[in-house]
Amino acid sequence: MGHRAAVVGAGHSRFGVLPEGPRTLLRTAVTAALASVDRGLDRASIGRGYLATLGFGGWQLGNSSTILAEELRLPGLPTLRVENACASGGFAFQEAVRAVGSGGVDAAVAVGLEKMTDVASARRRYWLGVSGDTEWERQAGLTFAGVYGLLASHYLTHYGVGREALAEVAVKNHENGALNPNAHFQKRITREQALASPMVADPLGLFDCCPVSDGAAAVVVTSAELARKFTDTPVYVDGLGAASDHLAVQERSELLGFAASREAGAAAFRSADCAPGDVSFVEAHDCFTIAELFALEDLGFAERGTAGRLTLDGATRRDGRIPVNPDGGLKSKGHPIGATGISQLYEVFQQLRGSAGPRQVPGAERAIAHNVGGAGATASVAILSAG
Ligand code: COA
Repeated sequence: MGHRAAVVGAGHSRFGVLPEGPRTLLRTAVTAALASVDRGLDRASIGRGYLATLGFGGWQLGNSSTILAEELRLPGLPTLRVENACASGGFAFQEAVRAVGSGGVDAAVAVGLEKMTDVASARRRYWLGVSGDTEWERQAGLTFAGVYGLLASHYLTHYGVGREALAEVAVKNHENGALNPNAHFQKRITREQALASPMVADPLGLFDCCPVSDGAAAVVVTSAELARKFTDTPVYVDGLGAASDHLAVQERSELLGFAASREAGAAAFRSADCAPGDVSFVEAHDCFTIAELFALEDLGFAERGTAGRLTLDGATRRDGRIPVNPDGGLKSKGHPIGATGISQLYEVFQQLRGSAGPRQVPGAERAIAHNVGGAGATASVAILSAG
């Protein structure tokens, strides 16, 4: 099939515990994305804006997308907030691709934003919890670390995998994050440190968890036909997939992976007419280390129960057979809920244009970005290739 659309610009704020408020973060990412378009983009050609945000802390729960029109200085621009928890960014990107693919709009902007760290810790737990099942799981006191801890425990026991496989995901992602100037954590850790970190939700320790971060990221999407008007090196959207599953984990038919990721991944590969073997690197949703192992298996990069071995063998390192999360992933780069899916596409854009600097995956030609909402309730997958 032909390309659906192209990314011609991308911008990113720092991720971390930041002094800036949400508007400033959004402005930083949007301004950088527009400035990155090689031959410039007339703002007037932007016909749609999508803002991915949970609205953490309730800072602006209603009508928040209108601030995107304000920051773009495009009064009247039709904007829409997209909310699918941690997968909001991936789904906002899909809407932007659809907008330019429908023919009515030359360009669209998809922005992800979350300001999390100015919320006190009890309220923070509340706002993290709103994206899980609030009828049963939250009543039982389950946090996301708790749910993923139960899933990890089941997986490790079922397949006879040790905690060192989880630790190695963290070690590898911190190593990559140390090369990413936008990352929340820019420091290497050892496997011993990861294994000895304080327990959060057995078997997940501190280094098995993504942090709570502030940040924003933005991409500029145009129709595939127009892309070369803006740059000689567009990044084309080859295929998209999306799926959902029961919100409550207890309703799921199996717990050794995420059915939504599997369905979204299969759909994306079908629409891009390619297979995992054709992909140069993976941006995987590693909110907890176990989630990266799930992603590798759900997307078809590893047989069931073998992603831990693949990781321990070094295959997912930047110089490995199938590099995963060269930007540090959620674990090291950070996870500002709504920003994460767009941040993954920012990394794909840099890598496929060969402009990722010291963390460049050599010869990267095609990438897959996998963004999960909550504990696998929603999943968005995009496959992109160098122009
Ligand atoms: N990995 C590594 N270090 C971390 C960290 C993480 N995930 N989270 C916090 N830290 C560090 C902080 O930088 C700080 O270090 P310092 O003392 O050197 O400054 C220290 O640990 C304490 O930080 P604090 O913010 O007080 O930690 P906390 O105990 O309140 O929170 C977690 C730790 C793991 C509970 C929290 O990061 C968390 O809830 N993560 C998961 C977020 C989530 O569920 N997102 C949605 C996913 S579906």
